[in-house]
Amino acid sequence: MHNKNCTCWNCPAIDLTGSVDFRACGQSREVFTQDSGDGGEAYIVAECARRPALGLFDPTSVTFEECPEWQPTPYGYLLKDMRVMILGMDGYLGWTLALWLANLGCKISGVDSFARRAWVAERGANSVVPIHTMDERLKAAREVLGLDNIQFRQIDILKQRDLLRQFIEEVRPEAIVHYGECPSAPYSMIDLDHASYVQQNNVLGTLGVLFMMRDLVPEASLIKLGTMGEYGTPLTGRPLFEGMFPADAVLKWGDREWSLGGELTPRDPPSFYHVSKVQDTYNVCEACKYWWLRSYDVMQGIIYGVHTPQLAADPRLRTRLDMDECFGTVVNRFVTQAVVGFPLTVFGSGEQIRGLIALEDAMQCMTRLIAHPPEPGQYDVVNQMSSYCSVRQLADAVARVASREFGIPVVIQRVENPRVEADIHPYEPVYNKLPDRLGFQPQASLESEIYRMLELLTQPHIKARLEENKHLILPRTWWSGFKRPVETLEVVEEVKYEPRVAVYGS
Ligand SMILES: NC(=O)c1ccc[n+]([C@@H]2O[C@H](COP(=O)([O-])OP(=O)(O)OC[C@H]3O[C@@H](n4cnc5c(N)ncnc54)[C@H](O)[C@@H]3O)[C@@H](O)[C@H]2O)c1
Repeated sequence: MHNKNCTCWNCPAIDLTGSVDFRACGQSREVFTQDSGDGGEAYIVAECARRPALGLFDPTSVTFEECPEWQPTPYGYLLKDMRVMILGMDGYLGWTLALWLANLGCKISGVDSFARRAWVAERGANSVVPIHTMDERLKAAREVLGLDNIQFRQIDILKQRDLLRQFIEEVRPEAIVHYGECPSAPYSMIDLDHASYVQQNNVLGTLGVLFMMRDLVPEASLIKLGTMGEYGTPLTGRPLFEGMFPADAVLKWGDREWSLGGELTPRDPPSFYHVSKVQDTYNVCEACKYWWLRSYDVMQGIIYGVHTPQLAADPRLRTRLDMDECFGTVVNRFVTQAVVGFPLTVFGSGEQIRGLIALEDAMQCMTRLIAHPPEPGQYDVVNQMSSYCSVRQLADAVARVASREFGIPVVIQRVENPRVEADIHPYEPVYNKLPDRLGFQPQASLESEIYRMLELLTQPHIKARLEENKHLILPRTWWSGFKRPVETLEVVEEVKYEPRVAVYGS
């Protein structure tokens, strides 16, 4: 198990105390291991919040493998009945993770303002996979999956800080997963109001969460969602390291040389939404430094898909899926377009490369991160993706599966690119930590997940919803400020693939 040698030092159920005021200063860890300077030995001892009868002990003396509070799961040792708070629980990922973790025995406390439902409605769109009210979702989770370990409160993270503080105080979460932000680049580029809204909601919402964690649950780990988009696509071709430069990276200038090891890597955010994520990165990193909070900043690739075993167990348990220009993500959008016979709209050359990960694989990664909390004061970054390819290759993959397996003819169309981004660029992402340190092994292939999506989205009641949203596919939001539909640059002839004998998933 990847986390078997972690000790109480990593465990969020620990209360740290001792002769060092370690929360006051990011350097305290060194003081902890060295002489305190006043003639006495500096020390930190631990008390277990779950087993206070143990008294005070050395926080590095008990491993997760030895501790009866940590129990084996397929994703590493996990704290028994671990208290996990999910901010943004009504969203595409939040709802999926709530069911996934509840199924592993975690006690879930969810928070959401239902803002995503409102943003999509504002654009005149709707989730094409029908989603139910939170009450109906929770009822279905109880009835179908026997999960009565999910509670929920409607709270706006930014505007109702008192309510959030109260909820955190009541629950005392051991991990906080922060999905609760506006995730759309085009939405942030509509106009000044939308740009300001996205940056306030995301940056100031997260800042409030950080202060609440400092005051209420400093030992809890924060798993904060960033995006691979934070890095942009540097034309120099330098690798996209996992948030920080590796120890042996150097900066050379003239005849001098400096180590870059441990410094945050440059970011090149391609929209005001991405800028909000970069600002979050700095705020989370600083909070870990000032207050010894512990966090994984997750640079997540584009998620695609509809499947986990829990989501597929009942139509009322399905998570949302959007196809409009603001809230549909690329693979999900291409699949919906194929189903309604709308040409797959590849922006510009289609040579832009993106990191990707299937929904179910993203859930596996999140569980592994929760199971392996960072050390106090540790700000760590993971690039959470399982593959990468060009947008044109994605369109080809959707066309291939749709035409071969479902007999759906697909046209690919290059259209003007409303974004300001490099059309052709090098791309060398580094994504080693999750597989190498945390045991992540991708389970879903792009094609098998496209197949599953097509199976769901071609059902007549969903296809009817796709038809209703079809007029919202073509982008109208230009980074330049224009508001006009993009024009076609090239129609790639209908992609025909020979029908296969064997069918995916059969
Ligand atoms: N889906 C992807 O492909 C992808 C890729 C990279 C990063 N991310 C990041 O992952 C996170 C989740 O993405 P998602 O696709 O599930 O988005 P989502 O919009 O479906 O989920 C976010 C949820 O947070 C809620 N929320 C937003 N602001 C809130 C506030 N102030 N108070 C309370 N609730 C609030 C929304 O109502 C929504 O339900 C986002 O931070 C996003 O930026 C997503």
